[in-house]
Amino acid sequence: MNLFRKTLPLALAGLLLAGTALSEGVDVDGDLMRGVDDTAKSLDSDVAMKDGQAAAADARSLVETFARIESHYGEKPDTADAAGFAQRTRQLAAQALQAIEGKDFDAAGEAVNQLTRSCRNCHEKYKKD
Ligand code: HEC
Repeated sequence: MNLFRKTLPLALAGLLLAGTALSEGVDVDGDLMRGVDDTAKSLDSDVAMKDGQAAAADARSLVETFARIESHYGEKPDTADAAGFAQRTRQLAAQALQAIEGKDFDAAGEAVNQLTRSCRNCHEKYKKD
């Protein structure tokens, strides 16, 4: 089985790579957060200007990023509350997205306000100045 011998190492290497990517997930560092900050500000102004398309893209990006941050912290028992903060932020971004898709920009604005406040909960404990 020549084919098997050739593909097995490849499959194993693939598994290894996937495993590494999963366990590392994402680094919650200044670079990532500056991106989050830009996207959150852009979301806020898109919602204020009722630019549904741009706002939806920003909200979707925040949902994805905070899902990754959530799983990053969730892997370690000592940062379980950080996973909770990330989850809360992700849910608010999802709530904003839903409102934007329903063209309810008042509800979206309220979700974005709560979202901005939810950043602080995590920073109080996990962001060292
Ligand atoms: C789950 C925890 C968590 C949540 C939620 C969170 N952050 Fe952060 N944030 C951090 C950590 C940790 C740092 C410090 C990163 C570092 O410098 O290593 C940080 C740093 C920052 C910084 C400073 C970046 C710099 O210049 O070094 C900004 C700006 C920021 N966050 C914005 C936000 C915004 C906006 C939100 C909400 C939409 C948010 N963060 C939500 C954990 C979080």
